[in-house]
Amino acid sequence: MTFFDDVYAKRPDVFSKERKAFILKLPGLLPQGATVLDLGSGPGDDALFLAKRNLNVTCVDCSKVAIDLVKKRAKEERLNIICHNCDALDFEPKQQYNVVMSIGLVHRLENKKRFKEHILKMKEWVKPGGYNIVYLMINEGEFFKQKKDLLFLKDKEILGYYTNWKIRDFRKAQGIDVVNEEVSEENGNIIYNLLIAQKPFYI
Ligand SMILES: C[S@@+](CC[C@H](N)C(=O)[O-])C[C@H]1O[C@@H](n2cnc3c(N)ncnc32)[C@H](O)[C@@H]1O
Repeated sequence: MTFFDDVYAKRPDVFSKERKAFILKLPGLLPQGATVLDLGSGPGDDALFLAKRNLNVTCVDCSKVAIDLVKKRAKEERLNIICHNCDALDFEPKQQYNVVMSIGLVHRLENKKRFKEHILKMKEWVKPGGYNIVYLMINEGEFFKQKKDLLFLKDKEILGYYTNWKIRDFRKAQGIDVVNEEVSEENGNIIYNLLIAQKPFYI
């Protein structure tokens, strides 16, 4: 039973709110039928949004409750979403994707070694000319000071992992997180880095 199994069992709609601007823009950036790997998909709000727009989405989440919710919702909406219940670091893709994204997962990776492995895999799993999208909490704001057990990067630190990639968007953003009441009260203080990086066509 993971932390998020418990969260989703109590509140399956915890993340069901408006999609982030970069998710809304994604279908317009990609060819029809492009492939998206959503690592740490949660109950699949982004995945369902993208699948409804003719993208081929694969979800990976270590929470069984989350992946069961994605499957149930995809079936209800007659969408074909491929689902894997495993750790993002243990996933074994059989193809490269147009987009590999990690939205709100990094702080759960426990340490920098696992973070580095996560990013190296994301870079490998995307096609030349495709995108890595990483949305992660950084060590600024009140929330960071209270949560010493989670992994937070420094502002702009993620850029160091993408030096030979084209940075299509990089921003510092104030996010809203509603995982539990405690977080909800602090939502104005959770600061994120958003990175959208494009893999070189030729390396
Ligand atoms: C904050 S939620 C974000 C969910 C979704 N991406 C969103 O933005 O709505 C983080 C998700 O990452 C998953 N997760 C955490 N660590 C993971 C890991 N090592 N491998 C796979 N999934 C993980 C959790 O189960 C949870 O569903």
